[in-house]
Amino acid sequence: MKSSKRTQVWFFVLLMAVSVLLIGYWTNNAAAAEPKKDEGKKDEGKKIYESRCIICHGDKGDGKGLVDVVHRNEKKGMVWNVFPRDFTSGVFKFRSTPTGCLPTDEDLKRVITSGIPRAYMPSSADLPDESVKAVIKYIKTFSNRWKDEEACKPIPVKKAQYVGSADSVKKGEQLWDKMKCWECHGKEGKGDGPKSDSLKDDWGDKVLPFDFTSGATKMGFAPENVYVAYTTGLDGTGMPSFQDSLSEDDRWNLVSYTLKLMGRLQ
Ligand code: HEC
Ligand code: HEC
Repeated sequence: MKSSKRTQVWFFVLLMAVSVLLIGYWTNNAAAAEPKKDEGKKDEGKKIYESRCIICHGDKGDGKGLVDVVHRNEKKGMVWNVFPRDFTSGVFKFRSTPTGCLPTDEDLKRVITSGIPRAYMPSSADLPDESVKAVIKYIKTFSNRWKDEEACKPIPVKKAQYVGSADSVKKGEQLWDKMKCWECHGKEGKGDGPKSDSLKDDWGDKVLPFDFTSGATKMGFAPENVYVAYTTGLDGTGMPSFQDSLSEDDRWNLVSYTLKLMGRLQ
C-alpha cells in the first residue's frame, strides 16, 4: 500500500530529473516568455503554461506531458503515482463547490500557488497575481465545460467550537463506522480498507485512499481541509461527497475523529 523506501528514493531521483528539465525549460523560455504589454491574457497564460505546466500537463492539456515517461517506468516494476491532471475532462478534485460542479477561480488559484506536494505538483507562489489569472484562463480552454457551465457557489465552511472535544471524537468514530469510511480508508485510517486495492479514478489510473496516519492531506492540514474533502467529495476519484448524507454537525464530529487518526489531538 505505502510506497517503499526504494520508491521514495526513486521519486527523489525523478524530482531531480524534472527540476533539471524545468530549469532547462525556464532558461530557454525565460526571455521569450517575457509577456509583451499588447498581448492578451490568453497568450500570456499560454506562455506561462508552456514554461511551467506543459512538462506535466501536456501541450493538449491531457496530462500527457514529458513526465508521462514515469508511467513507462511503472511497467518496469516501479510505481511512481505521478498522474498529472487531464484538463480536457473538466473534472476537478479540490473544490469549494458541491460535487459535480466546476471549481471557482479561487480554488484553482489555491492549487496553482500552493502546488500539491503530495502529488509532486510544484508551487507557483512566485507568480504575480495577473499571471496566475492568465494561466487559469488558459487551462480553461482545454474543456468546453468552461464555456457551457458557470461555477457553482462555494459551500460555507464555519468550524464548530466543539471540534476536537472528547465527546465529538466519540460521535465521529461512530460516524466513521456507520458511513463506511473504513471500507476505503481502513479501520484505523491507514488507507488500507477492503476496497482500497481496487480503486481506479475517472482517468483510469490507480488511486489510493488517503492514509490519515501519513501527514497532511493533498489540500492541507487544517480541520477545514478535511471538512471540505468529504463535504464536496473529490470528483473523479471515487471519494464521495457526504454533503447530503451527513448533517453539518455530523461532518464536524467526523473531522474531530479524523484529527485523532492524524495524531493531531492529545
Ligand atoms: C511536476 C508535475 C506538475 C507540474 C509542473 C504542474 N502540475 Fe498541476 N498537477 C500535477 C499532478 C500530479 C496533479 C494531480 C494531483 C492529484 O490529482 O492528486 C496536478 C493537478 C493540477 C490541477 C487540478 C486540481 C484539481 O482540483 O483537481 C490543476 C488546476 C493544475 N494541476 C494546474 C497546474 C498549473 C496551472 C501548472 C503550471 C503553473 C501545473 N499544474 C504544473 C502535476 C504537475
Ligand atoms: C469508495 C472509497 C472511499 C470512501 C467510502 C471514502 N473515501 Fe475518502 N478518499 C478516497 C480516495 C480514493 C481518496 C484519495 C483521492 C486522491 O488522493 O486523489 C480519498 C481521500 C480522502 C481525504 C483526503 C483529501 C485530500 O485532500 O487529500 C479525506 C479527508 C477523506 N478521503 C475522508 C473520508 C471520510 C471522512 C470518509 C467517510 C465519511 C471517506 N473519505 C470515505 C476514497 C474513499
